[in-house]
Amino acid sequence: MSASARQTLSRIETLASVNSTNDHAWQLLTDGNKSPFVCLAEQQTSGRGRRGKQWQSPAMGNLYLSLFWPFAANCPPRGLSIAIGVTLVETLNTFGINNLQLKWPNDVLCKGHKLAGILIESRYNGGYNTVIGVGLNFRLSPDLQQIVDQPVTSLEQQCSQLPCRNQLAGQLIENLIEAVEKFQCNGLNDFLQSWHSMDLLFGHPVEISNDAETFSAIAQGINANGELQYLYKGQLMSLSSSHYSIRLSL
Ligand code: BTN
Repeated sequence: MSASARQTLSRIETLASVNSTNDHAWQLLTDGNKSPFVCLAEQQTSGRGRRGKQWQSPAMGNLYLSLFWPFAANCPPRGLSIAIGVTLVETLNTFGINNLQLKWPNDVLCKGHKLAGILIESRYNGGYNTVIGVGLNFRLSPDLQQIVDQPVTSLEQQCSQLPCRNQLAGQLIENLIEAVEKFQCNGLNDFLQSWHSMDLLFGHPVEISNDAETFSAIAQGINANGELQYLYKGQLMSLSSSHYSIRLSL
């Protein structure tokens, strides 16, 4: 990891086992850490995904990482998931992992199967304390049912040679810090074009649903705020809430 990344972080903690690196980060925050830090774990006993789902996290050499970042009150982290998704894909590309696409808001898919997930949580307290959680599958346990409604994959299944996890983690942390700093200065300007080239959904019929409703639309990429744009009954609409789930229609 570069000297500048080390200077930015007040702490990097590696844990054998933890309930969830995101929960651990929130705990460290209540213990008084207020500057950026990272925690990683070999295993999570209650790993969490988006929309209240479980993220199964066995000790199989996978990456479970959380970065805490305090955003100022004038820089709400709206759309940050776009910048983080792009950064994760670009980092994986530099390790020779290709054929990756992003599904709004930030699922990383390899040939249609979920390879990595991102869980961003933000709490306002005069500024926006934010925990960016990243889970990346190096190996799947045979009984793994990570995302019940989506096929999953791992680097082991997709690469002829597995990248070194520590090297990848170090590079990813460095790139995430750079991305967050760019986002603070420029919002999503530096990420929109890359997103477009990685967008799984663009131009495709999709089903958009939450607990209350499901409707069909045509995905139209994202806008400058990172909201999903879609055509619904001939009208261009946008969706900001990551509480929705999006599926490609068959
Ligand atoms: C998703 O796709 O639903 C998001 C999954 C995010 C999983 C990561 S693993 C590290 C961090 N700690 C957690 O409990 N969740 C995130």
